[in-house]
Amino acid sequence: MNNTRLLLKSRPDGRLGPEHFDLRDEQLGSLTDGKARVRVLYVSLDPAMRGWVSASTDSYLPPVPLGDTMRSLGVGVVEESKSDAYQVGDWVTGMTGWTKFLDVAPGDLSVVPQLASIEDYVGILGLPGATAWHGLVVEGQAKAGETLCVTGAAGSVGSLVGQIGKALGLRVIGIAGTQEKCDWLVDELGFDAALNYRTDDLSKGLKEFAPNGINLHFENVGGEPFNAALKNMAPFGRMIFCGFISVYNGEAKDTPPEMTAIVRKRLTLKGYVMTDHFDTFPAIFQELGKLMMAGKLRYRLDVTEGLENAPSVFNKLFDGTNKGKLAIKVSDL
Ligand SMILES: NC(=O)c1ccc[n+]([C@@H]2O[C@H](COP(=O)([O-])OP(=O)(O)OC[C@H]3O[C@@H](n4cnc5c(N)ncnc54)[C@H](OP(=O)(O)O)[C@@H]3O)[C@@H](O)[C@H]2O)c1
Repeated sequence: MNNTRLLLKSRPDGRLGPEHFDLRDEQLGSLTDGKARVRVLYVSLDPAMRGWVSASTDSYLPPVPLGDTMRSLGVGVVEESKSDAYQVGDWVTGMTGWTKFLDVAPGDLSVVPQLASIEDYVGILGLPGATAWHGLVVEGQAKAGETLCVTGAAGSVGSLVGQIGKALGLRVIGIAGTQEKCDWLVDELGFDAALNYRTDDLSKGLKEFAPNGINLHFENVGGEPFNAALKNMAPFGRMIFCGFISVYNGEAKDTPPEMTAIVRKRLTLKGYVMTDHFDTFPAIFQELGKLMMAGKLRYRLDVTEGLENAPSVFNKLFDGTNKGKLAIKVSDL
């Protein structure tokens, strides 16, 4: 049986591209006792992967070593098993990496119930859904009647944050990068308002929407949208930090905004990463499942076929040209 993997060849200085990877074709040996062989169906492309290929060891995960399979989340199906933990036909999720096949030991990947579509496990019932729910509900302690602002609002995490916020009874404003995305947020996802960070005066727009201030802010981007939100926080507001995509490629400076507002407004600021909370995913997915069944969550995937295309497609996340959760289809179910 043949396998194909993408190995990290060198570290980018700026954007990640095909030149940083080697495509390796290889013959797979027979499966070892105690392991299962998984065929990968989709791999996820996430902004954080840009950080994982940098040399910095000052983060929540160590850098991907040069010469290793690129680290990524993914979903797959068990093709062969010599382990009691996996049955042939099981659907599995977790860190598959950029590979067509992988052999796994018990605990390496999670077996998931076949109650939703496999695509749901890439998006709503994958990292984006868990990140949105955990950030908003667990870290943010969202409460009905509050005013919520979310940046990166039309993205895979942000669009779910806003919709979960609406389902929980909050007033929601989103900040995104095109008018088409802003219209989608309001007209199709039910956000109360949206601002375009490229054309709108964000501080003025936020003040008009929330004259008494933002109670809960969900940050995905950093830079000017973050500054505008900070200026418009309500006293005792909470700011939840999920990501700072504008600085991941070194294209924008990670400069602090006007920090005195934190004291003047007595704000709480909190960052989190979901790799600390994998154990909570099943409980979160039960809650998200209820909202899905009630028709309260809409979601779209932006899928390209072919593992070899992963490095060139990755930068759609940073151009803003992805329309929904960015993923690569590796094989058919
Ligand atoms: N803490 C965690 O555990 C965790 C887990 C998952 C994701 N995240 C973070 O969540 C954020 C969103 O991730 P995602 O997977 O949902 O991606 P996404 O939002 O689906 O895609 C990224 C979007 O970010 C926007 N963007 C890119 N560069 C930008 C810039 N310089 N300024 C403003 N906006 C920019 C673009 O939309 P526009 O057209 O609107 O610019 C782009 O479509 C990222 O910061 C990511 O690191 C954190």
